[in-house]
Amino acid sequence: MFLITGATGALGRRIVRLLREREIATRAFVRLSSSYAELENRGAEIFIGDFKQDKDIQKACQGVRYIISTHGTGNDAQAIHYRANIELIDCAKEVGVAHFVFISVLGVDRGYEDSTTFKAKREVEKYLQNSGLEYTILRPAGLASSLIPLAEQFRQTGIYLLIGDPKNRTSVVSTDDLAKIAIESVNVADACNKILPIGGPDILTREDIATIFGRIFNREPFLINPPLFLFDSLRGTLGLLNPQTQKGLGTLRVLLANEFFCTPEEIQHVESIFEMKMESLESYIRRNIAV
Ligand SMILES: NC(=O)c1ccc[n+]([C@@H]2O[C@H](COP(=O)([O-])OP(=O)(O)OC[C@H]3O[C@@H](n4cnc5c(N)ncnc54)[C@H](OP(=O)(O)O)[C@@H]3O)[C@@H](O)[C@H]2O)c1
Repeated sequence: MFLITGATGALGRRIVRLLREREIATRAFVRLSSSYAELENRGAEIFIGDFKQDKDIQKACQGVRYIISTHGTGNDAQAIHYRANIELIDCAKEVGVAHFVFISVLGVDRGYEDSTTFKAKREVEKYLQNSGLEYTILRPAGLASSLIPLAEQFRQTGIYLLIGDPKNRTSVVSTDDLAKIAIESVNVADACNKILPIGGPDILTREDIATIFGRIFNREPFLINPPLFLFDSLRGTLGLLNPQTQKGLGTLRVLLANEFFCTPEEIQHVESIFEMKMESLESYIRRNIAV
């Protein structure tokens, strides 16, 4: 039995689909408020819970052999990104889980003080490494699924909003590839007790993404490119009204201001151990949006 947290998220949903296509027993940890009918229809066992309730995690882990932790989002990094994962790791040990896969983020080890999410993920990585469990830590660059709303907006308007340096590089990864890697990590010997950076096959500048959208939708991109200091000024002003909002924008600031890409050697390594070819961003968008 696999337990998937964040099962209603972009990545979690794909993991559940893939497991069920392979007819593997899967428990999906979902909140009552989320839409999980599709997962149930695919034959996943639905566990209703919330990470803010400790007992839910304990109950969800009963009878589980593998855990893939994909949950995220929200402003409460301490509760969701940190404490829930620590509790999951503790429970995984108690019930004798064979392998724990944790979805972290590329650049998590660079010490970005401004992002509680990055800090929480790094602390979880360390806790998992010292837990005695067999594990795989996947550090993805941006997920291609996160660009779908921008692509939809581009299709309607031709506008691409790019805050900060357009030359900053990224290697956006296909969310389907990441789902496959997460599942196969529990069986691939070279992924056991490893931290793997995961990116797409191409190193793209952020303005390349606008060009790709232009090619897909056959329209000239209209780039709106405010500098980072405008974001900082706005964030500072919001901070005067609500310091929590200012803090909450820390992760976005880190993402806007820095580069998140994998080297060709890192990608080749992942392709070779998982015996796959990583999908390009252009192919992912074309597959996921009817053009
Ligand atoms: N998106 C990216 O570009 C990116 C890049 C690098 C790493 N990552 C990491 O990759 C993972 C997957 O990302 P994603 O984009 O697929 O995430 P996502 O679509 O935002 O999904 C987040 C999931 O977490 C669940 N969740 C949030 N709070 C919860 C709570 N209190 N109790 C139970 N479930 C809760 C959500 O459930 P509901 O449906 O109920 O809200 C949802 O299923 C995350 O760990 C993220 O940090 C993402």
